[in-house]
Amino acid sequence: MKIAIYYFSGTGNTELTVKKWASEASKHNIECDLFKFEEVTDKTIDVNNYDKVGIAYPIHAFNAPRIVLKSAKKFIKCDSQKPFFVVMVSGEYMNLNHSSHLKLKSILKKRNMTL
Ligand SMILES: Cc1cc2nc3c(=O)[nH]c(=O)nc-3n(C[C@H](O)[C@H](O)[C@H](O)COP(=O)(O)O)c2cc1C
Repeated sequence: MKIAIYYFSGTGNTELTVKKWASEASKHNIECDLFKFEEVTDKTIDVNNYDKVGIAYPIHAFNAPRIVLKSAKKFIKCDSQKPFFVVMVSGEYMNLNHSSHLKLKSILKKRNMTL
């Protein structure tokens, strides 16, 4: 199993979370490649070579940060349906936070990526 995790972290909490996640996953023979959205300079992102994709971000005003939504549009349409998961890091546990992934979900659905 090979997973690409794309993430944005403002103050380091999300980065800490994905690094810990990847380290735990490696104990189960799951290989994770981590990419910071702000360091992805390519115009397009191709995840066809991965089994799954993770998107991780801190919740900003009950939403995914703008850089995450903007970068999500760089994913090219996958050849086959690609599962993705979201890791949301928040300051508080609030029901409103749970809908932060909706815009992201709709952007990625057009690229053959399903939550
Ligand atoms: C501009 C901004 C908006 C935020 N909005 C929310 C929010 O709507 N809900 C929440 O629970 N936390 C909110 N937070 C808190 C962050 O989600 C939280 O501190 C998170 O752990 C930061 O992760 P990071 O260190 O990866 O940036 C907000 C933080 C910032 C800077």
